[in-house]
Amino acid sequence: MLHRRNFLRTAAALTGAATFCPQNLWAEVAPGMLVRSDKPLNAEPPLADLVKDFFTPVESFFIRSHGNTPEVDIKTYRLRVEGLVGKPLDLTFSEVKEKFRSRTVAATITCAGNRRIEMSAVKPISGVQWDAGAISTAEWIGATLAEILQMAEIKPEAKHVWFDGLDDVAKKDGGFENFGGSIPIEKIYGHNKPTGNVMSADPVLVAYHMAGKPLSPDHGYPLRTIVPGFIGARSVKWLGKITVSDQPSPNHYVADAYKVLAEDTPAEQRAKDPIYETVTNAAICLPSAGAKLSAGKNSIAGYAFAAGLAGNRIKQVEVSIDHGRTWTKAMLGKKKAGAFTWDLWTADIVLPAGDVTVSCRATDESGFTMPAEKPWNAKGYLFNSWHQVVVSVQ
Ligand code: MTE
Repeated sequence: MLHRRNFLRTAAALTGAATFCPQNLWAEVAPGMLVRSDKPLNAEPPLADLVKDFFTPVESFFIRSHGNTPEVDIKTYRLRVEGLVGKPLDLTFSEVKEKFRSRTVAATITCAGNRRIEMSAVKPISGVQWDAGAISTAEWIGATLAEILQMAEIKPEAKHVWFDGLDDVAKKDGGFENFGGSIPIEKIYGHNKPTGNVMSADPVLVAYHMAGKPLSPDHGYPLRTIVPGFIGARSVKWLGKITVSDQPSPNHYVADAYKVLAEDTPAEQRAKDPIYETVTNAAICLPSAGAKLSAGKNSIAGYAFAAGLAGNRIKQVEVSIDHGRTWTKAMLGKKKAGAFTWDLWTADIVLPAGDVTVSCRATDESGFTMPAEKPWNAKGYLFNSWHQVVVSVQ
């Protein structure tokens, strides 16, 4: 049997990615990581691993890639900045690290398709069948996008900023395109004009470090954007180009995909807006579904994450063992850092003998409470009804 790390390395090789990484930065992938697809590489940690620490170790951090993991030669690598700017830039990796102040931002990243498998159980949905583990938290270090755009002399008519990755993603109708993302300018500057000096406490980063180390190849080496509070798709890995525009990116992953659609027709894709902010969500990570437990007091643990609106936080998490007739408040753990990071929580619950359905729901400070049911959507995005596990109690 292949060692997990070698297995993933082989899997990446099969996708066309490098088998040799000169920086020797292959991600250490934790044993037990659940590989949802190897071509391209998509993996999530077992839920129990998510609640071991506020910060997810890099080797347990979920990986969501639509194409290959590109091999980047750092000597020839350039980050291009163009579009509605007075001074287009071609920055080397060292220039990004040295010409701008480095900022540290703790942020939880979650895929819009997190928990898709539950929606798929109602009516099958194609795409990676994520359980609730397509979410992780890390401390990122990088230059702020605001300062890079300031150096490029961003023009006042700028409304959106596009990000293009260096990967090759297979298109449905043949050929390849790169993965791209895009964010509205307000995310970078608040509602002020882009003067370059208005920054939120958790700015959008062009990040080069994750958990104190250079980004691993699977997490975007050498540079990626980190957009706290937005769905993971806007945190573009292997960043090659930033384009300032007056409209959202035409890239497939902004123009057609990552939208909440009832039917997924081309007309509906055109009509709907891209998803930007995450939604409030929570999941039970311990005990695992199907666990055998002893009757009496048991500890239930999980995560909760507030929708990505500035200033929004988790107000409370509740646990029920009677399908929502009664709820017990969970204890929120100490939030270590970040405005857009999750809360880990625990609750001591007395479980009776039998098969018990344990449910959890979170309420955020805007007053939103996760619903018992959530309407199905064609791509399985933003699923956030009560999370439930059934355990066997003796
Ligand atoms: N960037 C590129 N270039 N290619 C990708 O496939 N996937 C996006 C985003 N950035 C992706 C990308 C999606 S959908 C998510 S959820 C996050 O990366 C996942 O980041 P991670 O793999 O570091 O967890």
